[in-house]
Amino acid sequence: MSGQKKPTEMLTEEHKNVLQKLAALKGVISRLDKKEEISATLKELASFFKTDFWVHFSKEEEALFPEIEKFIPREGGPVGMMLVEHEDLRNTNAQLQPAIADYLRDSGNPEAKEIIRRRGSHFIELLTSHISKEDNILFMMADMHLDQTQIDKVLKRFQEIEKGGN
Ligand SMILES: [Fe+2]
Repeated sequence: MSGQKKPTEMLTEEHKNVLQKLAALKGVISRLDKKEEISATLKELASFFKTDFWVHFSKEEEALFPEIEKFIPREGGPVGMMLVEHEDLRNTNAQLQPAIADYLRDSGNPEAKEIIRRRGSHFIELLTSHISKEDNILFMMADMHLDQTQIDKVLKRFQEIEKGGN
């Protein structure tokens, strides 16, 4: 090894950044009545979870998980479970984004705040526990089983995905 970071280490670093964003989102959601104060932060967070964040999911789904599935079957295993949660997070974000846009636009829709509170809290809770499961269980399994050829393959796919092959 040439001091090259493992794919799981790279993803765990990204998780740390995501957890910071989730903490900020939690703060903003608790202050939805102070719209002038929170709008800029909420807009920035919504933008992160609308686009940049999904590159991380692509890296897991298209690069790391397929290699893990070579030694742990998807069905009934941790990868299958992670994919179900990814789907839930995608759906939740799809409900959250228009509500946030609505709230920021001030269309006077009283439901927007309620959707942001409810769906936002679900998103924060689910993603936080999801990250903990990946870091502490799935990635540990990957570190035990992936051989160097697989690691190199995952790293190469990461680069392709980051370049926009996503
Ligand atoms: Fe992840």
